[in-house]
Amino acid sequence: MVFRWGIAGTGRIASDFVDGLRQVPDANVVAVCSRHADTARDFAARRNIPRAHSSYAALAEDPNVDIVYVATPNSRHRDDSEMFMRAGKHVLCEKPFALNARQAESMIATARNERRFIMEAIWSRFLPVYVSLGEVLASQRLGRIHHVAADFGFVAPSQPTHRLNNPSLGGGALLDLGIYCLHLARFVLGGHDSVVAHGDLNDQGVDVDATYTLTYSSGATATLRSTTRHATPCTATITGEHGIIRLESRMHNPPGFRLQLHDGAERYHRYDEPGQGLRHQVPEVHRCIESAFIESPRLTHSETLAYARTMDDIRRQLGVRYDVDGHHQ
Ligand SMILES: NC(=O)c1ccc[n+]([C@@H]2O[C@H](COP(=O)([O-])OP(=O)(O)OC[C@H]3O[C@@H](n4cnc5c(N)ncnc54)[C@H](OP(=O)(O)O)[C@@H]3O)[C@@H](O)[C@H]2O)c1
Repeated sequence: MVFRWGIAGTGRIASDFVDGLRQVPDANVVAVCSRHADTARDFAARRNIPRAHSSYAALAEDPNVDIVYVATPNSRHRDDSEMFMRAGKHVLCEKPFALNARQAESMIATARNERRFIMEAIWSRFLPVYVSLGEVLASQRLGRIHHVAADFGFVAPSQPTHRLNNPSLGGGALLDLGIYCLHLARFVLGGHDSVVAHGDLNDQGVDVDATYTLTYSSGATATLRSTTRHATPCTATITGEHGIIRLESRMHNPPGFRLQLHDGAERYHRYDEPGQGLRHQVPEVHRCIESAFIESPRLTHSETLAYARTMDDIRRQLGVRYDVDGHHQ
């Protein structure tokens, strides 16, 4: 079976994802949409995509599209994803899935009602390097895990209107970068008990630098940092009873990791793979749709909801509010 993909948005990640799709044999890129006809036409022409739609609604109405990749700003993920699912499309939605847990719950309810598949595009999970990390963790060679430390930071463009700085587009380092640190911590330690966050906001009220500490019933802790104000190492360490794992930069897509055990054993896992890493999540989307699943068993809706709830909790502590949060946030 060949799956026909539509691309919603014409930004940076949409372009990278099309490159990734082209490397998956049973994926066909058949259409793209933009708010502007000429942008859609130009994006399609450069990448040899057959159809260019001048609105997002027109892509939803395209009968020759099976799955839509939602690559719009965070503030649009809920409405775009729900529109596509209601029109009968399956959805791979860029991270963060939604602006808050309430939006995420609504999207998951729509997937259930419409019997459509939706997954948050946390591509790290499907990278061979993370699969291998999962195998090392499952082997118990580290023994009990005490701590995860991870950071993701770079200096964002300074324009106040840029989506990373702008609350109306769902800006902030937590939702864009911190999600990868939260993903790693959950991948290693599971669900946390509590979180304490500190950080700074820009003058529009979105987080530009935050550190959060999570505690776990096992006694483990995680210290995570996301920032759009400073360039940081973008590495991670996992400390266990018998040794340490170090993930290289950038920790969400590392070229490798080093396992160092206290007994002197050392192993370096390296992944020099050509091609676009975003492609690794695509076979999982195809497999789930073929099986008529509405969620991936490898990255479930409840996991996505857990990230949304944790980010709500952190934002509440930092004092970051989006218009859609309402009074109870
Ligand atoms: N997986 C990853 O590694 C990764 C990396 C970067 C970003 N992301 C995620 O992908 C999403 C898009 O990020 P990006 O860096 O590609 O952003 P971007 O370059 O700004 O592109 C976003 C696109 O969304 C469309 N759009 C629709 N409404 C918009 C609005 N009101 N304002 C601005 N753009 C609007 C625009 O396309 P039209 O003008 O053609 O409609 C624009 O090109 C975000 O959710 C982000 O978190 C993921």
